[in-house]
Amino acid sequence: MTINFILNGEDVVVRTDAGVRLIHILRESFGLSGAKSGCLNGQCGACSIIFNGSVTPSCLIPAFRVRGSEIITIEGFSQTDEYNDILTGFKDVHLGNCGYCEAGKILCTETLLERFPNPTREEIIMSFAGVNCRCTNIDRLVEAVNHIIGIRQRRLYGRSA
Ligand code: FES
Ligand code: FES
Repeated sequence: MTINFILNGEDVVVRTDAGVRLIHILRESFGLSGAKSGCLNGQCGACSIIFNGSVTPSCLIPAFRVRGSEIITIEGFSQTDEYNDILTGFKDVHLGNCGYCEAGKILCTETLLERFPNPTREEIIMSFAGVNCRCTNIDRLVEAVNHIIGIRQRRLYGRSA
């Protein structure tokens, strides 16, 4: 089947079988390797992408569901100021990072802060529910998100919240 969708802001077309997983389309047809192939059953978050505005495991999305969708991968998001805020925040708090689920953690942080610019601890915990990171724990992620909020406030308004 032929599938049209928007990938990192560009209209794209791919020919594939209906059941092929999106992660394999991204990696093999578009050379986008930021979404990692891990558990392939929706548990680890290593293959995360933003699918129609929500962080979603690309291993669970079959090709037929991709038609007409809007997808942002970590490669596309890395071109933004928001990405730099998050990466700087992760580095500043020395968040453990082997890279395996980095895309998931970064994209979860962004969609969280889009919805809740000043999230509660519970909202932060909920936002990372789909990422099973062995390199850090939820307390460190909460610390990182709160630090990133300050970085973003200073970039946008020249001050912290
Ligand atoms: S590879 Fe998709 S969630 Fe683990
Ligand atoms: S960054 Fe290492 S498992 Fe998440």
